[in-house]
Amino acid sequence: MMDDAVRQAPLAMDAAAFRALGHRLVDQLAACLDAVPRGPVTRGESPSAVRQALDLAGPLPESGMDPGPLLERTAQLLFEHSLFNAHPRFFGYITSAPAPIGVLGDFLAAAVNANVGAWMLSPAATEIESQTIRWIAALIGYPVDCGGLLVSGGSMANLVCFLAARTAKAGWAVRERGITGDSGQPLRVYASPETHTWIQKAVDIGGLGTDSIRWIPTDSDLRINVAALRRQIEVDKAAGDVPCLVVGTAGSVSTGVVDPLRDIGAVCKEHDIWFHVDGAYGAFAAALPDASADLRALTTADSVAVDPHKWLYAPLEVGCALVREARLLRSAFAYHPPYYHFDEGATNYLDYGPQNSRGFRALKVWLAMRHAGAAGYRTMIAEDIQLSRAMADAVRRHDELELITHELSITTFRCVPRDLRPNLGEPPVERYLDALNRRVLDRLQQGGETFVSNAIVNSRFVLRACIVNFHTTQADVEAAVEIAARVGREVNAELIAANTSNSGSLQG
Ligand SMILES: Cc1ncc(COP(=O)(O)O)c(C=O)c1O
Repeated sequence: MMDDAVRQAPLAMDAAAFRALGHRLVDQLAACLDAVPRGPVTRGESPSAVRQALDLAGPLPESGMDPGPLLERTAQLLFEHSLFNAHPRFFGYITSAPAPIGVLGDFLAAAVNANVGAWMLSPAATEIESQTIRWIAALIGYPVDCGGLLVSGGSMANLVCFLAARTAKAGWAVRERGITGDSGQPLRVYASPETHTWIQKAVDIGGLGTDSIRWIPTDSDLRINVAALRRQIEVDKAAGDVPCLVVGTAGSVSTGVVDPLRDIGAVCKEHDIWFHVDGAYGAFAAALPDASADLRALTTADSVAVDPHKWLYAPLEVGCALVREARLLRSAFAYHPPYYHFDEGATNYLDYGPQNSRGFRALKVWLAMRHAGAAGYRTMIAEDIQLSRAMADAVRRHDELELITHELSITTFRCVPRDLRPNLGEPPVERYLDALNRRVLDRLQQGGETFVSNAIVNSRFVLRACIVNFHTTQADVEAAVEIAARVGREVNAELIAANTSNSGSLQG
């Protein structure tokens, strides 16, 4: 029976217990985080080993348990069986080290538990999200009176911008009448093959289908070929298709290259097409005084997607969609159902995107922006780029490695045994190098000493190191280069030995 005065809910916790558990957890986390740089980046365990270690096979227990040991053991297991993107030698993918104040911010946000769908439900949180969006826009030079929304990451931010473009440019009421409208004219989108795969997901979810994408080739430097873009738009218009959106990337996922955004913007203007910039990774580098003119040209776009969980070092998850004309975001998403009674003059973020109930993602970003300030961010981003340049230089100097590209804070390179260097480009040698570097990648990703990912650059399989990590130092960068070279040497020796015992040809 429930006591009228005091309800003893199984999940309830009094203030003293909460305080004791919280203090213990924070002490444990501080020690674990402090130890990260001295441990492996990852233990490279198999899925079954992880399942076993965490004892994840059983059913949901019928009875609950003491939260103290539960939290303590869970934290310990998570630290023993995770990959640490905060590790100074983690260079794989574009996942940043989380700002400690952001970690605490998520804790605080969960405690407040604001529903940032409607202003009335989240007065302070909505206002903090609005200011965060203005600050993000200001940092990259985008108009601060733009519309904006925080979402789960870069893919969602790009999707939100794409859906705003679809509504604005279809030429019919696409939300009511659907994607083909009355005329049956197909909408077209334009992107280079270097575009992140969010574009396929977006046109798929948005009902255009992936065949609506016009893949515009790149030049040898992997930047979209603007003359080819222009030609394709003219061909499509002549055929009665509706060009809707062009994607320019500010920092591509594979190599960090920045598309010729100034020229793309001019083509879009000429043909009245929505100019979207995927700046999920690179847009924040536009904050630097020496940013290239093309990077700065993202300020002319109709929309920009940026990812605070990349170069603002926010803990996952948080992306941000910016749309130049704020009203176009609302007109792409707002509905006003009878069961809500929210002031339509207020900022109700459920009107700006696909989500209804929304968490307080802004807090961790806002706190980190206040903690570091704009100057702090410029310093950290510039240092990441400088370290990446140092990595490229170390690779260039190494006679067992070949530098492939260096843009923003991404370096791509591959292991090349000394005796094969004179024969680069020969098809059997290239095939061997692909196989060698695939194995090197596997070895590095399992080994825990450092962690890189891969890219395909002009048909070559290469290793890729991205620095969005304020813990990384020059020593880490130099160590990573030596580790890659050493593993390349070891794998090469193993392949030669295996080949000798099979008496096959080495590079066949
Ligand atoms: C250029 C670019 N766009 C979009 C994305 C997707 O971002 P997310 O993984 O946050 O969805 C990435 C991820 O690395 C990226 O580099």
